Amino acid sequence: MSTLSIEGALERLLLPEPGLAYLRHDRAGELRLEPGSLACADGLIVALEDDVAAEVRIDASGCAVVPGFVDAHTHLPFAGWRAEEYEQKLRGVPYEEIARGGGGIASSARAFAEATDEQVLAQARALAAELLRHGTTTFECKSGYALSIEGERRQLGLAAALGREVDQATRVTALVAHAVPPGTTAAAWLDEVEAALPELLAAAPVTALDAFVESVAFSNDDLRRVGGWARAAGVALRAHVEQLATHRSVPVALELGARSVDHLACLHPDDVAPLAASECAAVLLPGAELLGAEQTAPARALADAGAICVLATDLNPGTSPISSLPLIIGLAARRYGWTAKEAFLAVTLNAAWLLDLPDRGALEPGRRADLLLLDGPIAHTPYRLGRNPVEVVVVGGAVRHVRPGSEWRLQGSHA
Ligand code: NIG
Ligand code: FE
Repeated sequence: MSTLSIEGALERLLLPEPGLAYLRHDRAGELRLEPGSLACADGLIVALEDDVAAEVRIDASGCAVVPGFVDAHTHLPFAGWRAEEYEQKLRGVPYEEIARGGGGIASSARAFAEATDEQVLAQARALAAELLRHGTTTFECKSGYALSIEGERRQLGLAAALGREVDQATRVTALVAHAVPPGTTAAAWLDEVEAALPELLAAAPVTALDAFVESVAFSNDDLRRVGGWARAAGVALRAHVEQLATHRSVPVALELGARSVDHLACLHPDDVAPLAASECAAVLLPGAELLGAEQTAPARALADAGAICVLATDLNPGTSPISSLPLIIGLAARRYGWTAKEAFLAVTLNAAWLLDLPDRGALEPGRRADLLLLDGPIAHTPYRLGRNPVEVVVVGGAVRHVRPGSEWRLQGSHA
Protein backbone atom coordinates (compact mmCIF):
# COMPACT_ATOMS: atom_id res chain seq x y z
CA MET A 1 0.00 0.00 0.00
CA SER A 2 1.54 3.33 -1.04
CA THR A 3 0.70 6.19 1.26
CA LEU A 4 1.07 9.94 0.97
CA SER A 5 0.39 12.66 3.49
CA ILE A 6 -0.01 16.37 2.73
CA GLU A 7 0.46 18.26 5.92
CA GLY A 8 -0.46 21.62 7.36
CA ALA A 9 -1.87 23.46 4.34
CA LEU A 10 -2.86 27.12 4.67
CA GLU A 11 -6.14 26.26 2.92
CA ARG A 12 -7.83 23.25 1.34
CA LEU A 13 -10.60 23.77 -1.21
CA LEU A 14 -13.44 21.61 0.17
CA LEU A 15 -17.03 20.83 -0.76
CA PRO A 16 -19.39 21.23 2.20
CA GLU A 17 -21.24 18.04 1.20
CA PRO A 18 -20.75 15.35 -1.46
CA GLY A 19 -19.94 16.73 -4.86
CA LEU A 20 -22.72 16.91 -7.34
CA ALA A 21 -24.73 19.62 -5.57
CA TYR A 22 -21.89 21.98 -6.41
CA LEU A 23 -21.87 21.53 -10.17
CA ARG A 24 -24.32 24.41 -10.43
CA HIS A 25 -22.27 27.55 -10.45
CA ASP A 26 -24.56 29.61 -8.27
CA ARG A 27 -23.42 27.40 -5.37
CA ALA A 28 -19.69 27.97 -5.87
CA GLY A 29 -19.67 30.53 -3.05
CA GLU A 30 -20.39 27.74 -0.58
CA LEU A 31 -17.07 25.99 -1.22
CA ARG A 32 -14.98 26.06 1.93
CA LEU A 33 -11.38 27.10 2.35
CA GLU A 34 -9.99 25.52 5.50
CA PRO A 35 -6.49 24.87 6.77
CA GLY A 36 -5.46 21.28 7.32
CA SER A 37 -4.06 18.09 5.85
CA LEU A 38 -4.92 15.18 3.56
CA ALA A 39 -4.02 11.51 3.65
CA CYS A 40 -3.88 9.33 0.54
CA ALA A 41 -3.43 5.61 0.04
CA ASP A 42 -3.23 3.55 -3.14
CA GLY A 43 -3.96 6.50 -5.35
CA LEU A 44 -7.04 7.71 -3.48
CA ILE A 45 -7.75 10.40 -0.92
CA VAL A 46 -8.60 8.50 2.29
CA ALA A 47 -8.94 11.20 4.95
CA LEU A 48 -8.93 14.96 5.47
CA GLU A 49 -6.18 14.66 8.07
CA ASP A 50 -2.50 13.83 8.04
CA ASP A 51 -0.90 10.43 8.37
CA VAL A 52 2.28 10.51 10.40
CA ALA A 53 3.29 7.07 9.14
CA ALA A 54 2.88 7.81 5.40
CA GLU A 55 5.74 6.75 3.13
CA VAL A 56 5.80 10.17 1.46
CA ARG A 57 5.08 13.28 3.48
CA ILE A 58 4.67 16.70 1.92
CA ASP A 59 5.00 19.87 3.95
CA ALA A 60 2.23 22.11 2.61
CA SER A 61 2.81 25.05 4.95
CA GLY A 62 1.87 28.32 3.25
CA CYS A 63 0.21 26.43 0.38
CA ALA A 64 -3.32 25.96 -0.87
CA VAL A 65 -4.23 22.33 -1.66
CA VAL A 66 -6.73 21.96 -4.50
CA PRO A 67 -7.88 19.15 -6.79
CA GLY A 68 -5.73 18.59 -9.89
CA PHE A 69 -6.98 20.66 -12.81
CA VAL A 70 -9.02 19.00 -15.55
CA ASP A 71 -8.59 20.69 -18.93
CA ALA A 72 -11.77 19.52 -20.65
CA HIS A 73 -11.16 21.26 -24.00
CA THR A 74 -7.83 21.02 -25.79
CA HIS A 75 -6.98 20.20 -29.39
CA LEU A 76 -3.91 18.06 -28.67
CA PRO A 77 -2.27 16.48 -30.61
CA PHE A 78 -1.63 18.95 -33.46
CA ALA A 79 1.33 19.86 -35.67
CA GLY A 80 3.17 23.19 -35.64
CA TRP A 81 1.89 26.66 -34.80
CA ARG A 82 0.36 29.64 -36.64
CA ALA A 83 2.09 32.70 -35.21
CA GLU A 84 1.87 34.49 -38.57
CA GLU A 85 -1.93 34.38 -38.34
CA TYR A 86 -1.81 35.93 -34.90
CA GLU A 87 0.09 38.84 -36.40
CA GLN A 88 -2.62 39.18 -39.05
CA LYS A 89 -5.26 39.17 -36.31
CA LEU A 90 -3.35 41.88 -34.44
CA ARG A 91 -3.61 43.99 -37.59
CA GLY A 92 -7.37 43.45 -37.53
CA VAL A 93 -7.84 40.68 -40.10
CA PRO A 94 -10.85 38.59 -38.99
CA TYR A 95 -10.61 34.82 -38.41
CA GLU A 96 -13.13 34.10 -41.18
CA GLU A 97 -11.03 35.99 -43.75
CA ILE A 98 -7.87 34.10 -42.74
CA ALA A 99 -9.77 30.82 -43.01
CA ARG A 100 -11.27 31.66 -46.41
CA GLY A 101 -7.77 32.51 -47.65
CA GLY A 102 -6.55 28.95 -46.97
CA GLY A 103 -5.21 29.66 -43.48
CA GLY A 104 -6.82 28.56 -40.26
CA ILE A 105 -7.67 24.92 -39.73
CA ALA A 106 -6.68 24.03 -43.33
CA SER A 107 -3.18 25.34 -42.66
CA SER A 108 -2.85 23.16 -39.54
CA ALA A 109 -4.13 20.22 -41.60
CA ARG A 110 -1.30 20.74 -44.11
CA ALA A 111 1.24 20.84 -41.27
CA PHE A 112 -0.28 17.67 -39.81
CA ALA A 113 -0.04 15.87 -43.15
CA GLU A 114 3.62 16.87 -43.53
CA ALA A 115 4.67 15.90 -40.00
CA THR A 116 5.68 12.37 -39.05
CA ASP A 117 3.89 10.58 -36.23
CA GLU A 118 6.96 11.06 -34.06
CA GLN A 119 7.07 14.80 -34.77
CA VAL A 120 3.41 15.19 -33.82
CA LEU A 121 3.88 13.13 -30.67
CA ALA A 122 7.07 14.99 -29.68
CA GLN A 123 5.24 18.33 -29.83
CA ALA A 124 2.23 16.94 -27.95
CA ARG A 125 4.41 15.32 -25.29
CA ALA A 126 6.17 18.62 -24.65
CA LEU A 127 2.81 20.38 -24.36
CA ALA A 128 1.51 17.69 -21.99
CA ALA A 129 4.58 18.34 -19.80
CA GLU A 130 3.77 22.06 -19.92
CA LEU A 131 0.17 21.28 -18.90
CA LEU A 132 1.45 19.18 -15.99
CA ARG A 133 3.71 21.95 -14.70
CA HIS A 134 0.64 24.22 -14.69
CA GLY A 135 -1.39 21.73 -12.67
CA THR A 136 -3.37 19.84 -15.31
CA THR A 137 -3.74 16.23 -14.18
CA THR A 138 -6.41 15.19 -16.72
CA PHE A 139 -6.93 16.59 -20.21
CA GLU A 140 -9.10 16.09 -23.25
CA CYS A 141 -7.66 15.52 -26.74
CA LYS A 142 -9.46 16.12 -30.02
CA SER A 143 -9.06 15.16 -33.65
CA GLY A 144 -10.21 17.58 -36.36
CA TYR A 145 -6.89 18.83 -37.73
CA ALA A 146 -6.54 16.28 -40.52
CA LEU A 147 -9.47 16.98 -42.89
CA SER A 148 -9.29 13.53 -44.48
CA ILE A 149 -10.65 10.24 -43.21
CA GLU A 150 -7.24 8.61 -43.19
CA GLY A 151 -5.79 11.65 -41.41
CA GLU A 152 -8.59 11.73 -38.84
CA ARG A 153 -7.95 8.08 -38.07
CA ARG A 154 -4.24 8.89 -37.73
CA GLN A 155 -4.88 11.84 -35.42
CA LEU A 156 -7.19 9.74 -33.22
CA GLY A 157 -4.52 7.01 -33.09
CA LEU A 158 -1.92 9.60 -32.07
CA ALA A 159 -4.26 10.95 -29.38
CA ALA A 160 -4.59 7.41 -28.02
CA ALA A 161 -0.79 6.96 -28.15
CA LEU A 162 -0.29 10.26 -26.31
CA GLY A 163 -2.71 9.10 -23.62
CA ARG A 164 -0.63 5.96 -23.05
CA GLU A 165 2.59 7.96 -22.69
CA VAL A 166 1.83 10.94 -20.52
CA ASP A 167 1.57 11.21 -16.73
CA GLN A 168 -1.96 12.57 -16.95
CA ALA A 169 -5.21 10.77 -17.68
CA THR A 170 -6.73 11.74 -21.05
CA ARG A 171 -10.08 11.55 -22.86
CA VAL A 172 -10.48 11.55 -26.63
CA THR A 173 -13.10 13.47 -28.63
CA ALA A 174 -13.56 12.96 -32.37
CA LEU A 175 -14.06 16.46 -33.80
CA VAL A 176 -15.52 15.09 -37.00
CA ALA A 177 -16.92 18.39 -38.29
CA HIS A 178 -14.19 21.01 -37.78
CA ALA A 179 -13.62 22.52 -41.23
CA VAL A 180 -14.91 21.56 -44.66
CA PRO A 181 -11.91 20.03 -46.47
CA PRO A 182 -10.85 22.20 -49.43
CA GLY A 183 -12.48 21.06 -52.68
CA THR A 184 -15.50 19.39 -51.09
CA THR A 185 -18.77 20.38 -49.45
CA ALA A 186 -19.98 20.02 -45.87
CA ALA A 187 -22.55 17.42 -46.95
CA ALA A 188 -20.03 15.38 -48.93
CA TRP A 189 -17.51 15.45 -46.07
CA LEU A 190 -20.17 14.35 -43.57
CA ASP A 191 -21.16 11.50 -45.92
CA GLU A 192 -17.54 10.33 -45.86
CA VAL A 193 -17.40 10.62 -42.08
CA GLU A 194 -20.63 8.70 -41.69
CA ALA A 195 -19.33 5.82 -43.78
CA ALA A 196 -16.07 5.73 -41.82
CA LEU A 197 -17.53 6.31 -38.35
CA PRO A 198 -17.05 2.76 -37.02
CA GLU A 199 -13.35 2.80 -37.90
CA LEU A 200 -12.89 6.32 -36.51
CA LEU A 201 -14.51 5.29 -33.24
CA ALA A 202 -12.24 2.27 -33.12
CA ALA A 203 -9.04 4.29 -33.66
CA ALA A 204 -9.03 5.55 -30.05
CA PRO A 205 -11.17 5.26 -26.91
CA VAL A 206 -13.48 8.00 -28.19
CA THR A 207 -15.97 9.29 -25.61
CA ALA A 208 -17.48 12.22 -27.53
CA LEU A 209 -18.19 13.61 -30.99
CA ASP A 210 -17.76 17.33 -31.61
CA ALA A 211 -18.73 19.79 -34.37
CA PHE A 212 -17.90 23.44 -35.10
CA VAL A 213 -20.91 25.52 -36.15
CA GLU A 214 -19.84 28.74 -37.87
CA SER A 215 -20.16 30.47 -41.24
CA VAL A 216 -16.73 29.12 -42.23
CA ALA A 217 -17.49 25.63 -40.89
CA PHE A 218 -20.74 23.68 -40.40
CA SER A 219 -24.44 24.48 -39.92
CA ASN A 220 -27.00 23.70 -37.25
CA ASP A 221 -28.38 20.98 -39.52
CA ASP A 222 -24.92 19.46 -39.74
CA LEU A 223 -24.79 19.56 -35.94
CA ARG A 224 -28.09 17.63 -35.91
CA ARG A 225 -26.51 14.99 -38.10
CA VAL A 226 -23.45 14.64 -35.81
CA GLY A 227 -25.78 14.57 -32.80
CA GLY A 228 -27.66 11.63 -34.30
CA TRP A 229 -24.40 9.71 -34.75
CA ALA A 230 -23.34 10.44 -31.16
CA ARG A 231 -26.64 9.16 -29.83
CA ALA A 232 -26.45 6.01 -31.98
CA ALA A 233 -22.85 5.35 -30.93
CA GLY A 234 -23.57 5.98 -27.25
CA VAL A 235 -20.97 8.74 -26.92
CA ALA A 236 -21.40 12.32 -25.74
CA LEU A 237 -22.10 15.22 -28.08
CA ARG A 238 -20.09 18.42 -27.73
CA ALA A 239 -20.14 21.47 -29.97
CA HIS A 240 -18.07 24.57 -30.75
CA VAL A 241 -20.82 27.17 -31.00
CA GLU A 242 -21.51 30.90 -30.94
CA GLN A 243 -17.78 31.69 -31.15
CA LEU A 244 -17.62 34.37 -33.85
CA ALA A 245 -21.30 35.07 -34.50
CA THR A 246 -24.72 34.09 -33.17
CA HIS A 247 -26.21 31.09 -34.96
CA ARG A 248 -28.70 30.01 -32.26
CA SER A 249 -26.95 26.63 -32.04
CA VAL A 250 -27.51 26.28 -28.30
CA PRO A 251 -31.24 25.39 -28.54
CA VAL A 252 -30.29 22.82 -31.19
CA ALA A 253 -27.54 21.35 -29.00
CA LEU A 254 -29.89 21.19 -26.00
CA GLU A 255 -32.53 19.42 -28.08
CA LEU A 256 -29.87 16.88 -29.07
CA GLY A 257 -28.92 16.28 -25.44
CA ALA A 258 -25.39 17.68 -25.83
CA ARG A 259 -23.05 17.26 -22.89
CA SER A 260 -21.43 20.64 -23.55
CA VAL A 261 -21.57 23.75 -25.68
CA ASP A 262 -18.19 25.43 -25.96
CA HIS A 263 -17.10 29.07 -26.65
CA LEU A 264 -20.43 31.01 -26.34
CA ALA A 265 -18.83 34.43 -26.89
CA CYS A 266 -21.89 35.32 -29.02
CA LEU A 267 -24.50 33.43 -27.00
CA HIS A 268 -27.99 34.85 -27.57
CA PRO A 269 -29.42 36.34 -24.33
CA ASP A 270 -32.55 34.20 -24.66
CA ASP A 271 -30.40 31.06 -24.52
CA VAL A 272 -28.81 31.79 -21.12
CA ALA A 273 -31.73 30.53 -18.99
CA PRO A 274 -32.44 27.28 -20.91
CA LEU A 275 -28.73 26.44 -20.96
CA ALA A 276 -28.41 27.16 -17.24
CA ALA A 277 -31.38 24.92 -16.48
CA SER A 278 -30.07 22.03 -18.58
CA GLU A 279 -27.68 19.14 -17.96
CA CYS A 280 -25.33 20.59 -20.56
CA ALA A 281 -22.07 22.28 -19.52
CA ALA A 282 -21.29 25.83 -20.65
CA VAL A 283 -17.60 25.68 -21.57
CA LEU A 284 -15.94 29.09 -21.47
CA LEU A 285 -12.67 29.65 -23.30
CA PRO A 286 -11.39 33.13 -22.38
CA GLY A 287 -7.99 32.50 -23.97
CA ALA A 288 -9.58 32.17 -27.41
CA GLU A 289 -11.76 35.20 -26.68
CA LEU A 290 -8.76 37.33 -25.76
CA LEU A 291 -6.35 36.30 -28.52
CA GLY A 292 -9.08 36.21 -31.15
CA ALA A 293 -10.53 39.62 -30.19
CA GLU A 294 -13.82 37.83 -29.71
CA GLN A 295 -16.72 39.10 -27.67
CA THR A 296 -16.94 38.11 -24.01
CA ALA A 297 -19.22 35.18 -23.21
CA PRO A 298 -22.05 36.06 -20.75
CA ALA A 299 -20.33 33.91 -18.15
CA ARG A 300 -21.42 36.02 -15.17
CA ALA A 301 -25.07 35.62 -16.21
CA LEU A 302 -24.59 31.88 -16.83
CA ALA A 303 -23.00 31.40 -13.41
CA ASP A 304 -25.71 33.44 -11.64
CA ALA A 305 -28.40 31.45 -13.42
CA GLY A 306 -26.89 28.21 -12.08
CA ALA A 307 -25.31 26.79 -15.25
CA ILE A 308 -22.73 24.00 -15.05
CA CYS A 309 -19.78 26.19 -16.03
CA VAL A 310 -16.44 24.82 -17.17
CA LEU A 311 -13.25 26.71 -18.02
CA ALA A 312 -10.62 25.30 -20.37
CA THR A 313 -7.55 26.38 -22.31
CA ASP A 314 -8.80 25.35 -25.81
CA LEU A 315 -5.07 24.71 -26.40
CA ASN A 316 -4.71 24.84 -30.20
CA PRO A 317 -2.46 26.51 -32.80
CA GLY A 318 -5.16 28.84 -34.15
CA THR A 319 -7.15 30.59 -31.48
CA SER A 320 -5.54 29.71 -28.15
CA PRO A 321 -1.91 28.56 -27.93
CA ILE A 322 -2.29 28.63 -24.14
CA SER A 323 -1.40 25.71 -21.87
CA SER A 324 -1.85 27.37 -18.47
CA LEU A 325 -5.12 26.90 -16.59
CA PRO A 326 -3.86 29.33 -13.90
CA LEU A 327 -3.75 31.98 -16.64
CA ILE A 328 -7.23 30.97 -17.82
CA ILE A 329 -8.48 31.28 -14.22
CA GLY A 330 -7.07 34.81 -14.14
CA LEU A 331 -8.69 35.72 -17.45
CA ALA A 332 -12.03 34.36 -16.23
CA ALA A 333 -11.84 36.50 -13.11
CA ARG A 334 -11.06 39.63 -15.12
CA ARG A 335 -13.36 39.07 -18.12
CA TYR A 336 -16.30 37.39 -16.38
CA GLY A 337 -16.17 38.90 -12.90
CA TRP A 338 -15.86 35.42 -11.43
CA THR A 339 -14.51 34.77 -7.95
CA ALA A 340 -11.53 32.47 -7.45
CA LYS A 341 -13.89 29.80 -6.06
CA GLU A 342 -16.05 29.96 -9.19
CA ALA A 343 -13.04 29.66 -11.45
CA PHE A 344 -11.55 26.75 -9.47
CA LEU A 345 -14.89 24.90 -9.52
CA ALA A 346 -14.93 25.28 -13.31
CA VAL A 347 -11.54 23.56 -13.77
CA THR A 348 -12.05 20.82 -11.20
CA LEU A 349 -15.42 19.26 -10.26
CA ASN A 350 -17.31 20.60 -13.27
CA ALA A 351 -14.65 19.80 -15.84
CA ALA A 352 -14.43 16.25 -14.43
CA TRP A 353 -18.23 15.94 -14.69
CA LEU A 354 -18.10 17.06 -18.32
CA LEU A 355 -15.59 14.32 -19.14
CA ASP A 356 -17.69 11.82 -17.18
CA LEU A 357 -14.94 11.22 -14.63
CA PRO A 358 -16.82 11.28 -11.32
CA ASP A 359 -13.82 9.77 -9.52
CA ARG A 360 -11.94 13.09 -9.41
CA GLY A 361 -12.30 16.86 -9.23
CA ALA A 362 -12.80 17.28 -5.47
CA LEU A 363 -10.90 16.81 -2.21
CA GLU A 364 -13.09 14.07 -0.72
CA PRO A 365 -12.27 10.67 0.72
CA GLY A 366 -12.72 8.08 -2.03
CA ARG A 367 -11.76 10.37 -4.90
CA ARG A 368 -8.56 9.96 -6.90
CA ALA A 369 -5.55 11.62 -5.32
CA ASP A 370 -5.00 14.16 -8.11
CA LEU A 371 -3.81 17.14 -6.08
CA LEU A 372 -1.94 20.39 -6.39
CA LEU A 373 -0.01 22.46 -3.93
CA LEU A 374 -0.25 26.13 -4.89
CA ASP A 375 2.28 28.46 -3.31
CA GLY A 376 -0.29 30.80 -1.76
CA PRO A 377 -4.02 31.25 -1.20
CA ILE A 378 -6.26 30.42 -4.16
CA ALA A 379 -7.17 34.11 -4.49
CA HIS A 380 -3.57 34.72 -5.62
CA THR A 381 -4.01 32.59 -8.76
CA PRO A 382 -6.27 35.07 -10.61
CA TYR A 383 -4.67 38.08 -8.94
CA ARG A 384 -1.07 37.36 -9.91
CA LEU A 385 -2.07 37.00 -13.56
CA GLY A 386 0.31 35.12 -15.80
CA ARG A 387 2.31 33.58 -12.96
CA ASN A 388 2.34 29.84 -12.37
CA PRO A 389 1.46 29.14 -8.69
CA VAL A 390 1.84 25.36 -8.96
CA GLU A 391 4.52 23.99 -6.67
CA VAL A 392 3.77 20.25 -6.45
CA VAL A 393 1.59 18.04 -8.67
CA VAL A 394 0.30 14.65 -7.49
CA VAL A 395 -1.41 12.37 -10.02
CA GLY A 396 -3.13 9.22 -8.77
CA GLY A 397 -1.26 9.45 -5.48
CA ALA A 398 2.20 9.78 -7.07
CA VAL A 399 4.24 13.00 -7.09
CA ARG A 400 4.72 13.84 -10.79
CA HIS A 401 6.10 17.35 -10.63
CA VAL A 402 7.92 19.48 -8.09
CA ARG A 403 8.89 23.04 -8.93
CA PRO A 404 12.71 23.32 -8.90
CA GLY A 405 13.74 24.63 -5.49
CA SER A 406 10.71 23.13 -3.71
CA GLU A 407 12.16 19.65 -3.21
CA TRP A 408 12.51 20.41 0.51
CA ARG A 409 8.75 20.00 0.89
CA LEU A 410 9.03 16.26 0.25
CA GLN A 411 10.17 13.71 2.78
CA GLY A 412 10.50 10.04 1.83
CA SER A 413 10.81 8.44 -1.56
CA HIS A 414 8.39 9.99 -4.03
CA ALA A 415 8.92 7.65 -6.95
O1 NIG B 1 -11.69 25.91 -30.57
N1 NIG B 1 -13.37 26.94 -33.35
C1 NIG B 1 -12.89 25.95 -33.80
N2 NIG B 1 -11.81 25.31 -33.42
C2 NIG B 1 -10.71 25.84 -32.68
C3 NIG B 1 -9.78 26.67 -33.48
C4 NIG B 1 -9.44 26.11 -34.77
C5 NIG B 1 -8.25 26.77 -35.42
O2 NIG B 1 -8.33 27.91 -35.84
O3 NIG B 1 -7.24 26.07 -35.53
C6 NIG B 1 -11.21 26.58 -31.45
O4 NIG B 1 -11.14 27.81 -31.37
FE1 FE C 1 -11.74 24.27 -29.52
